[in-house]
Amino acid sequence: MTNPKRYLITSALPYANGPKHIGHLAGAYLPADIYVRYLRAQKKDVVYVCGSDEHGAAITIQAMKENTTPRAIVDKYHAMLKSNMADLGISFDIYHRTSEPIHHETAQEFFTALNNAGELEQKETEQYYDEEAKTFLADRYIVGTCPVCSNENAYGDQCEKCGTSLSPEQLINPRSTLSGNAPIRKSTTHWYLPLNKHEDFLREWILKEHKDDWKTNVLGQCKGWIEAGLQPRAVTRDLDWGVALPPALAGGQGKVLYVWFDAPIGYISATKQWAIDNDKDWKPYWQDKDTKLVHFIGKDNIVFHCIIFPVMLKLHGNILPDNVPSNEFMNLEGDKMSTSRGWSIEMEDYINDFVKKENGGGQMVDALRYYLTNIAPETKDSEFTWKGFQEAVNSDMVGKFGNFVNRTFVLMHKLCNGKVPAFHNELKDAEDDAMIAAIANAKKAVEDAIEGYRFRDALFEVIMLSDAANKYMQKKEPWIVAKQTGEDGKPTADAQKLIDNCLHICLQTTANLAILINPFLPFAAKKMCYMMKVVEKMLDWENAGKMNLLSVGYSLRAPELLFRKIEDAEVEEQIQKLKVKSEALKQPEVAKETEKKESSQNPSSGGGEAKAEIQFDDFAKIDLKVGTIVSAEKVEKADKLLKLQVDLGFETRTIVSGIALHFEPAAIVGKQVTVVTNLAPRKMRGIESNGMILMAEDADGKLKFVNPDDAVQNGSGVS
Ligand code: 2FM
Ligand code: ZN
Repeated sequence: MTNPKRYLITSALPYANGPKHIGHLAGAYLPADIYVRYLRAQKKDVVYVCGSDEHGAAITIQAMKENTTPRAIVDKYHAMLKSNMADLGISFDIYHRTSEPIHHETAQEFFTALNNAGELEQKETEQYYDEEAKTFLADRYIVGTCPVCSNENAYGDQCEKCGTSLSPEQLINPRSTLSGNAPIRKSTTHWYLPLNKHEDFLREWILKEHKDDWKTNVLGQCKGWIEAGLQPRAVTRDLDWGVALPPALAGGQGKVLYVWFDAPIGYISATKQWAIDNDKDWKPYWQDKDTKLVHFIGKDNIVFHCIIFPVMLKLHGNILPDNVPSNEFMNLEGDKMSTSRGWSIEMEDYINDFVKKENGGGQMVDALRYYLTNIAPETKDSEFTWKGFQEAVNSDMVGKFGNFVNRTFVLMHKLCNGKVPAFHNELKDAEDDAMIAAIANAKKAVEDAIEGYRFRDALFEVIMLSDAANKYMQKKEPWIVAKQTGEDGKPTADAQKLIDNCLHICLQTTANLAILINPFLPFAAKKMCYMMKVVEKMLDWENAGKMNLLSVGYSLRAPELLFRKIEDAEVEEQIQKLKVKSEALKQPEVAKETEKKESSQNPSSGGGEAKAEIQFDDFAKIDLKVGTIVSAEKVEKADKLLKLQVDLGFETRTIVSGIALHFEPAAIVGKQVTVVTNLAPRKMRGIESNGMILMAEDADGKLKFVNPDDAVQNGSGVS
């Protein structure tokens, strides 16, 4: 959308059922915050809303686990999430909650409007029922074996292992999470949103109108859903915790809205509350076509934000999202991040271990924001490692950005009396010109990247500018020029002019760096303003590129280190902590990681022994797709294993393959391969492998990839 009048930015409402980890932060909150801070610096009319998702089985089940009430659970975790987000610099305009009356009213009104307009269908169906607990079983109240990856503990709404959205009927061997019993089928009435009626709209809107501006991972998932055939989705549940159906609705007693129906309406109720608090009108943000609505989410929320909620919005007469930038997942030290398995870094823990321990912990907030943006899973899953964190902070933040700012201030105090020196135009040279041009170029590159939701690239541009500035200073060597002294022992007039020019440019560059880094590392930008003795208004984006941000003769404060190094001991401590936590929570079946598994992932040895006959149905269970290897690397301490990233069109997967003795990693990047995509994930040397590459082995043991003779689109099926 060009020139929107206003922006409404949302981040997925986290369930208030427990602490959230830094993978969540990297997925839906930090990128949105960067985007919003950038828009605010441009003085755009922008509202950034979020809040706790306080309904659904996620909450009631946690209440059972903690032996308390759903109300107590949401109160406890809402407070935690709200303060965690604030501590990490996530600058919502409002962090609301879906248990507020204004949300209940808004969600009921929304449902009633759709129902009255005849857009919902009421149907009586048979659903799973627990006779002992005397309750219907939906979503997380029912578990069973995932039909896709065979995870025996998949929920009725989603398999957390492979991420597939499910309905309870798809589970194999379903059982109640309340009693553990196998459920019976019992009839009940519910309201359905007939998504099937909106297929044409979705095709047109997503696959045509947004084919060039939505991310490929998002488009891929949407296409998959649409192609698979959209089904009516139940939007009500037999539960007693949630938004009750409108009291006057016949047959609605004892039922609530499905949490995924009410939660996204939470964006609207949060906007309403923000408008009340700020004496504004909420309506244009949801009704005026000139509003740019952007939903930041993680990949497990794509279907809800790109298919279901847009249909609801359209039927209700609201605007549609302009974009839904969704991130892939961030893994941790070789494994999926998971709070329940203890393999995670909770926001709360990071804050306690780093932020609250520091004096003015802003720099450690920025350190986390830096690394998470640096490795953001924008196009494929990425990996947080404590060593990587240390390396990124120490070499980029401290070594490049912080180093340049510090040297500039130290030299300015030493060689220019602590004041901004004049620029002597007659001595301007090609290096000065190049540095000035680099600032203008960086500004443009950062803008393009942020507006294209490429926050990694944007941050890289800023760091590269600080790198270029370091090199500029290194080349100019003002400390050497200062040795050209006169009889008074001071630099000669000519030498001083050269020193002045260099430090003038370095100081104006510092001011520019503060503006450019502000959306990413707001605490550093603030500290830089303090050191430069300028008001934070200087950080307005329109100032970027200017070379007169600091007035000549203006005296500046003494330098303070912007960032500190991360010590080896801190990294070791965190790695240990992670191991201890996950060991404590380890379930026996997860613990089994054996050499045997590694070797069974190797290609079958030797040619063609016949196997027992199978039926077509057996073969049809195997999901074969073509993908392209986008990266390959050896697995540490495992001679036979390569860790591959394979682009399957709709997502990029990590696959560990026992082919290291046959191929050089670099030589296979770019090759197309055939992948068994629905093989249960398995861990090898701590790395979760999500599929298997098909190989052919000839008589002398040489391996070849099984691939199409001409390149085909990644994700193409093989049958
Ligand atoms: O996946 C989740 O954590 C959901 N609570 C996200 C909801 S986003 C929106 F719809 F509210
Ligand atoms: Zn699964």
